[in-house]
Amino acid sequence: MYEQLSHSILNEILERLKPEIKEQELNHFYTRLGANFYSLFSLFLKLYGKRKDFKEQLLKLVEVMARQYIGRSPELKKTDLAREKDYNWFLSQKWVGMTLYADGFAENLLDLLSKIDYFQELGVNLIHIMPILECPKNASDGGYAVSNYRQIDARVGDLEALKNIAQAMKQRDILLVLDIVVNHTSNQHEWAEKARQGEHKYKEYYYIFQDREIPDMFEKTLPDVFPQTAPGNFTWDETMQKWVMTVFNNYQWDLNYQNPAVFIEMLDILLFWANQGVDILRLDAVAFLWKKIGGSSQNEPEAHILLQLFKDCCQVTAPGVLFIAEAIVAPVEIVKYFGEDAINAKECEIAYNATFMALLWDAVATKNAKLLKQGIKNLPDKLERATWLNYIRCHDDIGLGFTDEDIMEAGYEPKSHRNFLLNYFSGKYENTAARGLLFGQNPKNNDARISGTLTSLIGLETALEEKNQEKIELSIKHIILLHSMIFAFGGIPLIYYGDEIGTLNDYSYMGNLSKANDNRWAHRPKIDWKKAQLRKTPGTIEHTIFSALQRMIKVRKEIAAFGDFNNRELINLSNPHLFAFLRIAQENQDHVLVLGNFDASYQYLNLTDIDSKMLRLNDRDNIIDLYSSQASVMFKNQLVFSPFRFYWISVS
Ligand code: GLC
Repeated sequence: MYEQLSHSILNEILERLKPEIKEQELNHFYTRLGANFYSLFSLFLKLYGKRKDFKEQLLKLVEVMARQYIGRSPELKKTDLAREKDYNWFLSQKWVGMTLYADGFAENLLDLLSKIDYFQELGVNLIHIMPILECPKNASDGGYAVSNYRQIDARVGDLEALKNIAQAMKQRDILLVLDIVVNHTSNQHEWAEKARQGEHKYKEYYYIFQDREIPDMFEKTLPDVFPQTAPGNFTWDETMQKWVMTVFNNYQWDLNYQNPAVFIEMLDILLFWANQGVDILRLDAVAFLWKKIGGSSQNEPEAHILLQLFKDCCQVTAPGVLFIAEAIVAPVEIVKYFGEDAINAKECEIAYNATFMALLWDAVATKNAKLLKQGIKNLPDKLERATWLNYIRCHDDIGLGFTDEDIMEAGYEPKSHRNFLLNYFSGKYENTAARGLLFGQNPKNNDARISGTLTSLIGLETALEEKNQEKIELSIKHIILLHSMIFAFGGIPLIYYGDEIGTLNDYSYMGNLSKANDNRWAHRPKIDWKKAQLRKTPGTIEHTIFSALQRMIKVRKEIAAFGDFNNRELINLSNPHLFAFLRIAQENQDHVLVLGNFDASYQYLNLTDIDSKMLRLNDRDNIIDLYSSQASVMFKNQLVFSPFRFYWISVS
């Protein structure tokens, strides 16, 4: 878009660029900057327009983009051009992800290189390596308290090792995802150290207060993220004799984005990693980016402006690189992190579908799909050029992130229903085999979240202890059912490492002082590769789950209707235990009807229920399930579901 004022400022800035920048070949950079500048300028103006040094800061911003563009390799620039052309490339059903710790799944980055064959064996082609940047050893929050953004933690490897992985993955068409912790740094980061020593420039990088006046105002309304281990949102720093804002752990200092220098530093860091060959940057804790007295300091409009700015800038330098929003917030808020408009106010192309995840866990506990249907019915539409990361488990705790209104619509009383879920998963409810752990219990409001691996939460740990073969088999079916949902829903399915071989809770964290008070470590296991080897032995749990996922991935990749083009329609069935949706294909291809039984007993679906949706099932006597390639089980015009059975049925 052309607008006079911003354009004249752009001309001024280009004029002032240093000769060593100007003399480079910057064709594509200039065209993209021209296209994005009006937006970029307006957003920067909204946040920082009142500052005297506004133009100087804008010049610095452009310089950072230009320098990083110059440093971008010809190979990556080629990928950028290809992805600009095929701009919906990431919506294809061909992508299937896995999240892992380099030192949990493997020994380190070097060893991870040797696991690429395993990814291909399973079929995953998007690998999210959990944070690997330098962190203080005993105060790292699992990698989310970074002390150096340009250095890889020596415990997992070095830049060279990462570059080798990025290269090897690229050769096999596997995408690399890395975390950038944009909201806060470790209190041992150089910026924090300098602030502590009194350097004005770096004091401005954080929220630092002389006394409790402002912190008290903030704390009136700020929730506690870690109420047990880090209550409150400010930490007293002995050296400075001042209070620092620390919304997460007391060693994680919140960055002050009211200062444009912080934004520019972080952009430089994002582009630095983009230039190391990272395809997708996972932006951590984005809901928290802007702080305001008198609210929760989450989902503030300015946080969205910051993300739009990051996106605009990244598109100028490295347009092939995508963002994942890690915003684990209310359903109506999450979708806003895609942006309001894919062209004018775009933010992150991908976001965690925390709503679907939490709803799936509700269906696990209740054995019905009532709240699941209700929650999905109310899941707001997303932009066209945007996609979900659908997951069952990740490295974090499970929050019951659905709304009280939906709980009521589903026929429950919110408080008691939430209590039931916490009791169910923590094993307190009498009728449960789940082995979860309560995390972040808050005595002020009785709130809590849940830790534990998929396998242990489903009940397989208990079933194995009881040596109860029937329960073991049911648990495995249950695990597979959940995967069948995230693989078919629309978006990129994200497997959590270890789930593909049924990894149980790991209680060894309790013996480690720096982990003992954070039970999320129960579900951050070290993979036992001897056990993983059993995936090749039929009859083992590892083999059953691994081969089911392997098959599911293979079939998913062949079904065009599984591409994510906002082509899902929820189907309302009268049987509360069944969850159903239709994935609509583009012209000349079959749609896919996805059905799952969340109950532990047999369920039936009368096909007239489906007929009323005007679907013509191909051949009523021979309905083929795409996953198993076998005829579905029919009994007198009813589709039969064994406990936790799912179907992917082709319909035209
Ligand atoms: C994100 C991470 C979580 C971490 C938090 C603070 O939510 O996923 O693990 O504790 O940010 O960095």
